[in-house]
Amino acid sequence: MGNLSRLLKESWTLVEEQQDKVAGYFYARIFLSNPHLRNLFPVTMDVQRARLLGAIVTAVQSLDDPDRFEEYLRQLGKDHRKFHVEPEHYDVVGGALLEALRTFAGEAWSIEYDQAWGDAYNVIAKKMIAGAEADTNPAYWHAEVLTHERRAKDIAVITCRPLQYPLEFRAGQYVSVEAPRYQPRLWRTYSMANAPNKEGTIEFHVRALGAGWVSSALVRRVQVGDLLRVAAPMGTMSLDRKSTRDIVCVAGGTGLAPIKALIEELTRYNRTRWVHVFFGAKDRDDLYDLPELNKLAARYPWLSVVPACSDDKNFVGEQGNVGDVVARYGPWGDHDFFVSGSSSMVKNTLRTLAELKVPAVRIKYDTFGDI
Ligand SMILES: Cc1cc2nc3c(=O)[nH]c(=O)nc-3n(C[C@H](O)[C@H](O)[C@H](O)COP(=O)(O)OP(=O)(O)OC[C@H]3O[C@@H](n4cnc5c(N)ncnc54)[C@H](O)[C@@H]3O)c2cc1C
Ligand code: HEM
Repeated sequence: MGNLSRLLKESWTLVEEQQDKVAGYFYARIFLSNPHLRNLFPVTMDVQRARLLGAIVTAVQSLDDPDRFEEYLRQLGKDHRKFHVEPEHYDVVGGALLEALRTFAGEAWSIEYDQAWGDAYNVIAKKMIAGAEADTNPAYWHAEVLTHERRAKDIAVITCRPLQYPLEFRAGQYVSVEAPRYQPRLWRTYSMANAPNKEGTIEFHVRALGAGWVSSALVRRVQVGDLLRVAAPMGTMSLDRKSTRDIVCVAGGTGLAPIKALIEELTRYNRTRWVHVFFGAKDRDDLYDLPELNKLAARYPWLSVVPACSDDKNFVGEQGNVGDVVARYGPWGDHDFFVSGSSSMVKNTLRTLAELKVPAVRIKYDTFGDI
């Protein structure tokens, strides 16, 4: 471990157990000295409370090799444009961070620690600012909701069209979305469920998660004609057009969205690759897009679809977690894999694929949460 990294980790242990208080102080410090910055953050901050502080601490602590994170930090800086973050805000936030740490570490804090956090923060801030400044896209697009269809109790399929100019993306990518009319300043990521098209429309498949702030607004409140905000596309779960391998897609619930986009792209050029889609859900109702998938499978001879339910004894078809269902088929020795869904579903599927000796380089995945 390098000296900088040792200092950062060592000093963090001094405040680690008081994280909540550190976060409270950190935000109070920012908002007291710069009240206008409060408007950048969500109205209610309890869910979010430690989000920014936690993110900064993780970034600073991962700074062993800043160049390795160059691309991530540039992307993060670019992405911060959607929060209306300006270069001068970085000093305010960096100052509040140091003051919060000093205050709660007490006497054990040293000049060396101060220097280490200041240096690490500045390296990160510089890379984020450079990323933001190099971005030629708008900070976000306003997108008008064209259709809103409830497909299951908790699931909606929404199409919208960016208003200023088309949003360029690749099938399999995702974007941050805000529903400003209902949940201002709360952004969450959703995958595009279609490949780019001439009309410039984009489709989302959203599941409302319990009391989830943004997903429940998108499913239960958003209406045709509303304006959403959509930020620049991210993600690398796209097709390798040069690969000649057959394809296996494994989707859980609305994890189908990016898989559907990949299938749509394949319908435009594929003649030679078999594509097997495994679509898993809790029960029959949650297989919200199965009729569409079946229509595609009837039309394209290279496409097969296997639905599976993990919690519906009456379902006539595969039973069990979709990852386990994949293992009942095969062999999968020479396929490209795409996996998308909740963290538990993705984790389970990756474990199964590892047991089946599928090389990790052949697997691309997106997870709806940390794994
Ligand atoms: C790369 C990526 C792509 C994504 N694509 C899609 C997509 O296409 N469609 C889609 O529906 N979602 C997608 N998500 C998930 C989405 O970004 C949100 O996390 C989700 O909609 C919940 O946001 P929320 O604001 O409603 O919930 P929050 O307000 O963030 O959370 C509210 C509460 O819900 C609970 N909760 C949060 N997540 C889960 C969970 N996974 N399971 C159970 N409880 C949970 C938590 O306890 C939390 O306290 C994607 C996520 C990522 C990272
Ligand atoms: C080293 C510097 C910084 C790092 C590493 C960092 C990192 C992050 C990360 C990872 C997130 C979560 C993103 C998401 O969930 O989409 C976030 C959110 C956010 N950041 Fe930063 N950030 C930094 C500086 C700043 C600055 C200077 C501001 C300006 C005030 C800022 C404002 C915000 C806001 C408003 C959010 C959303 C908060 C929320 O949803 O509660 N960030 N940051």
